[in-house]
Amino acid sequence: MSEKKNNLEHIAIIMDGNGRWAQKRNLPRSAGHKKGAEVVKEIAKEANNRGIRYLTLYAFSTENWNRPKEEVDTLMGLLRQYLKSDFSELHKNNIRIRVIGERSMLDKDIVAQIAKLENDTAQNSGMVLCLAISYGSRLEIVQAAKKIAALVKKGDMSESDVDIKLFSDMLYTKDIPDPDLLIRTSGEQRISNFLLWQSAYSELFFSPTLWPDFTVRELDDIINQFNSRERRYGKV
Ligand code: IPE
Ligand code: IPE
Ligand code: MG
Repeated sequence: MSEKKNNLEHIAIIMDGNGRWAQKRNLPRSAGHKKGAEVVKEIAKEANNRGIRYLTLYAFSTENWNRPKEEVDTLMGLLRQYLKSDFSELHKNNIRIRVIGERSMLDKDIVAQIAKLENDTAQNSGMVLCLAISYGSRLEIVQAAKKIAALVKKGDMSESDVDIKLFSDMLYTKDIPDPDLLIRTSGEQRISNFLLWQSAYSELFFSPTLWPDFTVRELDDIINQFNSRERRYGKV
């Protein structure tokens, strides 16, 4: 029996379907977001137990700012709550927290909480839980281009220094390897402005499960399927 196993260091997940989960139960969308946040904790803990080194979760996109104020407020309220209590539980599990996204759009107290959590967990040696909050890949790429333009203009760098490695280092995900596996729940088959640069060679999985119903068992099943795929990177 030959059992092939791909190297799986980094899983990224587009956690979609909270609203539909609630709708199906005649509950407000906020109920779906609450349940979804519980699933985050469970999946993060179990991914860490499975030796995954990086787990990146898409929690709030730059486009999600365009949702009704009431929903944005609910999501930010949940985020506050989780940054304070639940993520400190992950700290006990030796998980390191990182946040990627446009912080200038977030309320100051949330930015401060994020900085504290990143700082408090910086020495943890377990999995890096990377939360994409107010994250949009196009904005990330534009910001990187601006940083490079400014450095070249100042004379600190020349045009010929710009290569793939340098560009990657200008992204929020600096120091984080590209995702090996990118999962989207809820049946939608699109990327919705998530890790456009970083997912160039990620294996994509689209699950019909709504995020609040997503389980560790399904994650294991996807990991098994990932292991049986052949990653060619353009070679023969
Ligand atoms: C994902 O669930 C969570 C966020 C985008 C914040 P949705 O809120 O998009 O749920 P659906 O897609 O409407 O079901
Ligand atoms: C993507 O889901 C963003 C997150 C999961 C945070 P959306 O629900 O916002 O994406 P679209 O609108 O279906 O593309
Ligand atoms: Mg959605």
